[in-house]
Amino acid sequence: MDKLLTQTLPDSDAGIGRAADILRGGGLVAFPTETVYGLGADARNDTAVAKIFAAKDRPQFNPLIVHVADLDAARAIANFNDTALRLADAFWPGPLTLVVPLRADAQISPLVSAGLPTVAIRVPEHNLAQKLLHHAGIPVAAPSANPSGKISPTRAKHVIDGLSGRIDAVIDGGPCGVGVESTIVGFSPEPTLLRPGGLPAEAIESCLNAPLGRASDTASPTAPGQLASHYAPNGVMRLNVTKPDPDETLLGFGNVDGDLNLSPSGDLTEAAANLFHHLRQLDTDGVERIAVSPIPHTGLGHAINDRLTRAAAPRDS
Ligand code: TXA
Ligand code: MG
Repeated sequence: MDKLLTQTLPDSDAGIGRAADILRGGGLVAFPTETVYGLGADARNDTAVAKIFAAKDRPQFNPLIVHVADLDAARAIANFNDTALRLADAFWPGPLTLVVPLRADAQISPLVSAGLPTVAIRVPEHNLAQKLLHHAGIPVAAPSANPSGKISPTRAKHVIDGLSGRIDAVIDGGPCGVGVESTIVGFSPEPTLLRPGGLPAEAIESCLNAPLGRASDTASPTAPGQLASHYAPNGVMRLNVTKPDPDETLLGFGNVDGDLNLSPSGDLTEAAANLFHHLRQLDTDGVERIAVSPIPHTGLGHAINDRLTRAAAPRDS
């Protein structure tokens, strides 16, 4: 990717205004939350979200948490049942993430939810994060602001050490108070602890007056890192195809003839931004046999190939 000059912005109205402008313009800004620093991008913008994966060098498209200013903004994106509402009322803003069904009209990039029908949402409490989200007025997708496989950052300096030259800016809001990631709760449909974190599970259980299910108790592979139920098209997929069979529809990459192309110019960020849209288009078109062009195994190509390999794997019908 192009080398960027990463700006460190101050915790001031001007700094926050600048950060909000960068986010609205499709750039990447790291910002403090009470848990850890997040690497933010406009959650509605496919290309901006693809850039998060490129900057972190993530080898897989794990779903990301959407950060919003308040419950109203969250309800514009997802459907909250009574239990989810109760938890949101009790613990938002704060270090709790809820995995809830995505609304059909949410306009969130499918890269954010990794094509899943659910979305992880959180309302952070940190004053600077609140100001930024209010000012930007958009949902912000943000994983922790560290290179993939490295420790989550709790200071602006950690962000710079890991991601300088790969992101547009970091707002320096000092150290994070909580220091570990948010607790994640999903509904399957019973409330289930998907990741322990900054909000103790006991606090959630006493709010619900019931024990939380544990991810390992359920058969559904929705726990972070175990997401096997990734989106796959209905058609049979064949990868690394340079010459498609006559009855195959080509999902192309680079300068190839075909019906759908992830990036005619061979740009991996563009290909990542298009990936889920194109896979869905193949379903909409009722395609039964799909051939996919070779995708280079560099940069975002790792995550794209990972997703395509899962989509092409034999599945139970
Ligand atoms: O404290 C935090 O949560 C920080 C700050 C920046 O908000 N963010 C964070 O994001 O830790 P990340 O991307 O490192 O972790 C997000 C986790 C992943 O483990 C992912 O698998 C899970 O959330 N997740 C996201 N969407 C999901 C979904 N639809 N279903 C199940 N798990 C989901
Ligand atoms: Mg992380």
